[in-house]
Parts: sequence; structure tokens; C-alpha cells
Amino acid sequence: MNPPIQIVIFGASGDLTARKLVPALLGLAQKGSADLQLIGVARRPLTDTGFRAQLRGQLPEADRGAFEAFQGCIHYVQGDVEGDLEGLAKRLDALGPSVGRLFYLSLRPNLFVPAVENLACAGLLAQENGDPWRRVVIEKPFGWDLASARALNHTLHRLLREEQIYRIDHYLGKETVQNLFAFRFNNAIFEPLWNRHHIELVQITVAEELGVERGRAAYYDTVGALRDMLQNHMLQILALVAMEPPSSLDPETIRDQKVNVLKSIRLWPSEPCVRGRYGPGDIGGQTVKGYLQEDGVGADSDAETYVALRAEIVNWRWSGVPFLLRHGKRLPKRFSEVRVQFKVPPIQLFDRFGEDARTLPDGLTCSLRPNHLTLSIQPREALSLGFGVKVPGSGMTMAPAELAFDYRDRFGGQTAPAYERLLLDALQGDPTLFLRDDEVEASWQLADTVCKSPLLEYPAGSWGPPEAENLFHGCEGGWSRG
Ligand SMILES: NC(=O)c1ccc[n+]([C@@H]2O[C@H](COP(=O)([O-])OP(=O)(O)OC[C@H]3O[C@@H](n4cnc5c(N)ncnc54)[C@H](OP(=O)(O)O)[C@@H]3O)[C@@H](O)[C@H]2O)c1
Repeated sequence: MNPPIQIVIFGASGDLTARKLVPALLGLAQKGSADLQLIGVARRPLTDTGFRAQLRGQLPEADRGAFEAFQGCIHYVQGDVEGDLEGLAKRLDALGPSVGRLFYLSLRPNLFVPAVENLACAGLLAQENGDPWRRVVIEKPFGWDLASARALNHTLHRLLREEQIYRIDHYLGKETVQNLFAFRFNNAIFEPLWNRHHIELVQITVAEELGVERGRAAYYDTVGALRDMLQNHMLQILALVAMEPPSSLDPETIRDQKVNVLKSIRLWPSEPCVRGRYGPGDIGGQTVKGYLQEDGVGADSDAETYVALRAEIVNWRWSGVPFLLRHGKRLPKRFSEVRVQFKVPPIQLFDRFGEDARTLPDGLTCSLRPNHLTLSIQPREALSLGFGVKVPGSGMTMAPAELAFDYRDRFGGQTAPAYERLLLDALQGDPTLFLRDDEVEASWQLADTVCKSPLLEYPAGSWGPPEAENLFHGCEGGWSRG
């Protein structure tokens, strides 16, 4: 990609920049995907050399080689986004006057508006006919509720065209999440089954062993699990699972279909949500403290660290199919997956009264496990199809078996980090994997309807409040254990 591109990161000394953004840029630079200049901006006084030294010290060993090769393209500008950004404008022009510029707001959300306003005041967002492009990446959270998300969209639209705005959700940069889309729309064999006639239920889980991350408690305490994870990442996954096939790969065509699904989600009418907060407990033989004892958490906190939700999608494809979403911290195991559970056969021929027998909602006895299609997002990026096979021998006894695909086995090595893919797309002007204004508002519209059910305590290291099992009422099965 020529000519060079300037990436301006606001929040250059922050955690996200060091852990995700700079490694992603190094990956792009190393692969020759783009000719880049990185300009870091934050309030603290630093020279270019000081900034480079700081980044070098924060990088994992594996990135050091790429850093040494790239460091000459790294610069620093001291600046406050709540003030005048003329100094930044001059420095950018001195480094390259007529180049494309990506402004990445890796800032606290209350700084998004002042940052964009002051960028506009400094003439840095103007993109008239023939001007080099100007784009702004906005980190999450995008708003705290529907009203604030709408207000933020409104302000941004005064200063930027929608096609200049890139609202990031890093889950969309993950290979397996993108593979949801590819898998569904490149393989005709599943499409006839992908509906209420054949699917019993869909579970989406993001389970974490970690508690609240160091230094993030104050932020987390204001949002909780519903706003931090379910409203954005998990609803995005749901949209990809449930959307109608787009007629092309045009970004707006794809995003239209996602918005249609998000607008069709309704909560289960009776008690659709379970909220929990971890107390002290044991994980992997280690005793850990409860959420309220974590540094930075308020004594009167009402933030949930666990949320489980049952919803339905009211359209012809999905009507009546439960979508069960669950996210929790301090659970026994770290895994994220989508599990599509198919209906059992209408007549049970095999093992009707075997050891494993259970009664189905329609009264039939069944020892067959339903077929599952599981898309694992992390820690493995994999896909498996569970089915039953006959155990060798004289009887007709069935046992579970699996067809499995693993990204690493098939393609080797690590897949590219999510931020690398998303940064490249933003540099190339492809908004497909970023959230459009109406998409983010539709997600908040749903999240706002989730009423605050009472907060139930669960011990760290358990699977969360047992009450969450009630969300399976009338369905076959229970929550996946990964
Ligand atoms: N960290 C993560 O894992 C993560 C994950 C997902 C999303 N995010 C989102 O990413 C954003 C950044 O998070 P973070 O964890 O990196 O935050 P952070 O570690 O607190 O860093 C904030 C950065 O902003 C700079 N800053 C603060 N006020 C400023 C101002 N007025 N003008 C210019 N720079 C200013 C700070 O440097 P100075 O104090 O020197 O100005 C610092 O570099 C947030 O929106 C967060 O929600 C973070």
C-alpha cells in the first residue's frame, strides 16, 4: 500500500496501545501490508526516543525484532485531546502532508467527543473531494445505553461522515468469528438445517477464569458483564449466527442483514435474565478473592460479573428457537463458543432405555445426545460436529462421536491477532467488520430492555448461579461446559 499512511493513536501510553495496537501494527509492518508511520499522542511529556523506549520495554520478547526494524517510523506528540491540537496538525504535515490518516481513539469514552471536536477544529478531519482520506476508529464502549449511544452518533455525524467512522469490536477480527460467516454462506449443506425446523436451541458462551483485570476494576464496576461483553461482542456473534444470507459481500449489504437480526431479538417473556457476582472461591487449586474484595471495586457495587440471558428472534427462520447467551468471570474454565443444538430424531430407535436415558419435553425417552455443531472461538479456534455412532458389538448401542476441524492443525501456527486484521481493514477503508451507527443502537436497544434482576452470589470457580439452568425450561439440555 503506497503512499505511506499515518496512524495517530490517542492514548499512546495506555494499556491497549502497548498490549494490542502496537503489536498489531508491527505485524502489519513486518508483513509489508502497509507503509506506516505511527504517531502516539498523550498528555505526558515524552520525546520520540522516550516513547520508543517505553514501547520497547512493554513489548513481548517475540515482537522485539519487528520493533527494531519499525522504530524509526514511530513518533510522539504531547497533546491533550481536550485542548488545541494545532501542534499535532503541524507535526503530521511535517512528517507527510498529503497522506491518508487514521486517528485511533484509544481513550476513555468521555474523551471521544472532545477528541473528535478538537481534531475537527484543527482541520484534521476535512476530507473534501480529492483530499487524502481521514478515518477515526472509536474504541468500546460506544455509549452506556441507547440514549448515550444515540447522542454520541449524533455528535460524530456533525463532524464526520458515517463512512469515516470505524466503531471497533475486536471480536469481529477473530478468525473463528469471521468463519461463522464463511462457514454459513460457503457451505450449502447446513443452510437447509439452519432454522426453527431443525435447530432446538443456540448457546453462546464467553466463560473466563480471570476475575476483573488489574487496573480495570474502576471501569468494569461502572458497566458490569452485560454492558462489557453481552451488549457488544456476544450480540455481534448472535447476529452472525442468525442473519439472513447477504446477496453480496458489500459491507452495507452485510451490515443491513445484521441490523435486521438485532432488531428482531426479543427477551423471553418470563425472567429472561440471571445476574451474578463472584464471591471468594477456588480456581485450579488457588484460593481467589471475591469481586467486592478486588481493588477498585466500590463497596456498594451493583455490577454483575455473570449474566445469562434467554432471547428469541422473531422472524420466520427463528421463531420459537431459544438463544441462550452466557458470560461470566471466575468460572472454572476459559472458553468461548457457539453451540448449535439440533433437534433429536422424531422416533427413538436405539437405546431407548439405556443407562443414559432421559425424558424429552414431548414425553419420549431418549438416550441419544442431540447433534451439536460447536464453533470454538477461544482458546482453540475450532469447529466440531457431534453425532452418535453404533458401538461395535451385537446390540444397537450408540456412543457420541465427533468430526473436528482445528485452525492450527489445518493452517499451522497462530492466526493473526484480531486487532491486526481490523487495523488493516480500517487502513484499507473496509468497514465490514466495524459497527454501523444503527447496528450499535439496535444492540443498546436490546441491552436496555434487560431489567436488573437481583444479583446472585456464586463462588469463584463454580459455573455461576444455579438459577441460570432455569433458562433451559422446556428445552433439552443444559449449559455447555466447553
Ligand atoms: N485495555 C484493554 O484491554 C481494553 C480492551 C477493550 C477496550 N478498551 C478501550 O480502549 C480505551 C483505552 O483503554 P486503556 O485501557 O488503554 O486506557 P488507559 O490504560 O487508562 O490509557 C489511557 C490513555 O489515554 C491518555 N489520555 C488520558 N487523558 C488524555 C487526554 N485528555 N488527552 C490525551 N490523552 C489522554 C493516557 O495518557 P496520559 O495520561 O499521558 O494523557 C493514556 O495513554 C478505552 O476506551 C477502553 O474502554 C481497552
